[in-house]
Amino acid sequence: MNGKHILLCVTGGIAVYKAVALVSKLTQAGFQVKVLMSESAQQFVTPLTFQSMSRQHVYTDTFDEKDPQGIAHIDLADWADLVVVAPATANVIGKYANGIADNMITTTLLATTAPVWIAPAMNVHMYDHQAVKDNINRLYERGIQFIEPSEGYLACGYVGKGRLEEPEKITAIISSYFNEKEKQPLKGRNVLITAGPTREKIDPIRFFTNHSSGKMGYALAQAASKLGANVILVSGPTNLTPPSNVKTINVNTAQEMYDAVMEHANASEVIIGAAAVADYRPRQVYDEKMKKKDGSMIIEFERTQDILKTLGQQKMNQILVGFAAETERLEEYALKKLQSKNADLIVANNVSEKDAGFATDTNRISIFNRNGINKVLPLLTKEQASIEILKEVEQLLEEVEYENRESNR
Ligand code: CTP
Repeated sequence: MNGKHILLCVTGGIAVYKAVALVSKLTQAGFQVKVLMSESAQQFVTPLTFQSMSRQHVYTDTFDEKDPQGIAHIDLADWADLVVVAPATANVIGKYANGIADNMITTTLLATTAPVWIAPAMNVHMYDHQAVKDNINRLYERGIQFIEPSEGYLACGYVGKGRLEEPEKITAIISSYFNEKEKQPLKGRNVLITAGPTREKIDPIRFFTNHSSGKMGYALAQAASKLGANVILVSGPTNLTPPSNVKTINVNTAQEMYDAVMEHANASEVIIGAAAVADYRPRQVYDEKMKKKDGSMIIEFERTQDILKTLGQQKMNQILVGFAAETERLEEYALKKLQSKNADLIVANNVSEKDAGFATDTNRISIFNRNGINKVLPLLTKEQASIEILKEVEQLLEEVEYENRESNR
């Protein structure tokens, strides 16, 4: 587990002895564990036991500040990748649910921004008490996770739900949480994606649009969300259902898309322009239906704003990805777009191929980056293509972070 930091808060109940085994299992699994003990926990087991198991100082008193350079409960709160309260008594659950901070554990719980997991252990009737249930619900609604107690013989003589989950099981749950997290390389990243066509009205009945179905942009939004990103999807009119966990903003015109993107651009680390934005709109939009006349008709068009280009002109450390839907000279046009839009990647495809382009479920893409590298991919589903595109994005994000670290040295 590459030394991931677990802060274990041990509160007073007979299950404290199991927390000793938990520290042992966690350290064996490669975690670094620091232990905080409540006063009542120390009635069951001494801090020395946990110190020997964790090979770390054990914290028991908010005011026992050993290091003048820091404030222990804040430093611990910041150190933790995960805070686990095990065993958690009805008392600590009640205090945490109500924001009470009257000892080392409760103050640290309020100070941490790391995820907090609670493994309750108590008498079956206590666990079933409405007050405890209410407190658990309250914490649950705040995003606190619970490792439910198991059923079995309780130290108080009862048989029922209230036994601290076995240390092996808790260790396995924690390990799989970190494994899953590792698989989420875009965790917490803000990603903005445009999708679909735009519609440019000429009168209340008619508009100009294109063949974009939105499938590529929606597949990207879904894939980015699965990889842990916070995704905003700015979508032109499509028949698709927005992926869950994705904030979708529906727009019609290029101007509306421009406005929505600009509103969220600054907060986005990655922007992917998969929309087929109209380059032109009718100069004049009629309020009433245009009536036909004899002879031909000339409609004057004006340019819309180029969203990607504007983003490229104002970008700082953002990753910008554009699409080039072409019918010929793919590489030449893709590289031109990379330059003119100041993009980091251009995903190019030949829309004249029947299995790669608008409204299909598959795509045959080439990804061009600033080093001129052209990754030519075989025919893929749009989901697979999204994963390939996002792999390139991940690599660029890592490069940006590396450059930032170097320049801060
Ligand atoms: N794009 C944009 N805003 C526009 C037009 C396009 O953000 N007003 C984005 C698209 O989302 C896509 C890329 O720019 O990522 C496409 O580049 P573009 O040069 O506009 O391609 P075409 O519209 O096909 O134009 P061209 O006629 O130059 O090939």
